[in-house]
Amino acid sequence: MRLYAKKAVIGSLVCLTLWLIFTYVTFTAGGPLEARPREGPVSAEEDRFRNRLAERVEQLEKDFSIQLQSNKNILMEIKQKLLEETDEPEQIVQLEDKIPILVLACNRVNVTRCLDLLIQYRPSKEKFPIIISQDCNHEPTRIVLERYANAPDSGVSLVLQPDLTDILVPPKEKKFRGYFNIARHYRFALNHTFHVLGYESVIIVEDDLDISSDFYEYFLGTYALLKNDPTLWCVSAWNDNGKVGLVDPSKPELLHRSDFFPGLGWMLRKQLWDELQPKWPPAYWDDWIRKPEQRKDRACIRPELPRTKTFGKIGVSNGLFFEKYLKYIQLNDQSVPFTKLNLSYLMKSEYDKKFMMDVNSATEVTLASLRGMTDVVTDPSLATVRLTYTSKEEYKKMARHLGLMEDFRSGVGRTAYLGVVNCFYKGRRVYIAPDKPNFIYDPMWS
Ligand code: UD1
Ligand code: MN
Repeated sequence: MRLYAKKAVIGSLVCLTLWLIFTYVTFTAGGPLEARPREGPVSAEEDRFRNRLAERVEQLEKDFSIQLQSNKNILMEIKQKLLEETDEPEQIVQLEDKIPILVLACNRVNVTRCLDLLIQYRPSKEKFPIIISQDCNHEPTRIVLERYANAPDSGVSLVLQPDLTDILVPPKEKKFRGYFNIARHYRFALNHTFHVLGYESVIIVEDDLDISSDFYEYFLGTYALLKNDPTLWCVSAWNDNGKVGLVDPSKPELLHRSDFFPGLGWMLRKQLWDELQPKWPPAYWDDWIRKPEQRKDRACIRPELPRTKTFGKIGVSNGLFFEKYLKYIQLNDQSVPFTKLNLSYLMKSEYDKKFMMDVNSATEVTLASLRGMTDVVTDPSLATVRLTYTSKEEYKKMARHLGLMEDFRSGVGRTAYLGVVNCFYKGRRVYIAPDKPNFIYDPMWS
């Protein structure tokens, strides 16, 4: 609109200038023809007429130069405005500041559900380009994906995993072929994102995930932590124990550190991929990444209230946990402005001391007494409580009775931090903590 206005102003000025030139020329060309000295005597009347004419021409010349100056001023102003406008910071996001969303797709046609939410909540196409990588050569899904990628100015691109050969799978693991394909696909897609496209970070989203409305805000707000705290290696949108009744719905802004790698909507940086890529495993990548050789004592940020939820009941792991846990995940429905919050409490240097103080100052209770408590906290000293475990079996029993996931991966319980699993139960914060300080995970615990 502003550009049209400028064009109109410039147009009128040009017309006005042309008109003035025209009048000037008429008087100084046509006029002077009359005024040109003629041969012979000149009458007094003619003389007066000539003088008047000369005066008018003079006046016109003055008007003309005033108008010309005024036009020049207006043009200068317009030029200045145009210059100021181009001086405004450009909305172009540099490659290293972009955080692409890598969607791993295979044969789920209802990947549309995942993509529609990713697009709906995306605050900027430039900042968060969506890269879909498709494995499996499933045509109906590819047709659906192409629709997104080919839509004009969609900020969505599609790449196909090119190696569709049958992977040589040990006979005993034939039924786990899917895990081999997934690991190969991850390797391709991450290499493509970091080494072909040259991004510096990525958020991985599998094709059966719903996201919360503050998904992007969550990753934007926590990005600086991932960058600045070398003891962090990922930010995940997932809470393994994020079931209804096990999370505090009044604390959507609450975030935690976790030694357990959650996956399922997670952000990593290129330097981590450069470290893992040379030894990337042929299968079961998520359990492999949780091994001490890979984790190297690093933690992830995870939310109290999940920012992703899986709808993929039928998948490679055949709904292993779906019926018991995954379908009860409480996807956050309140938007938190994470980029405006101070999240420095999550840096290891600040977090660990405070966390262990909270654990140690919590009132010690037994599993039986906790289970017998009412849903409403009446005694403030029981708002934060601690259960202590002395063995793997004891931990598992506690987890089972509270409805938490009871399994370990490389000796780390789901959501554990420094050996402590924390959850929300009957309106209170519960820490399930080992009996000794400086707990060391035992990879034999499974
Ligand atoms: C489970 C994990 C998943 C992990 C996977 C591999 C849960 C809820 N899910 O997969 O995070 O990545 O184990 O250890 O814990 N896919 C391919 N190629 C295939 C098959 C699947 O690329 O041949 C893709 C899918 O599009 C999807 C992802 O791999 O994005 C996971 O597949 P899915 O079928 O959902 O398996 P899960 O059982 O969820
Ligand atoms: Mn899945």
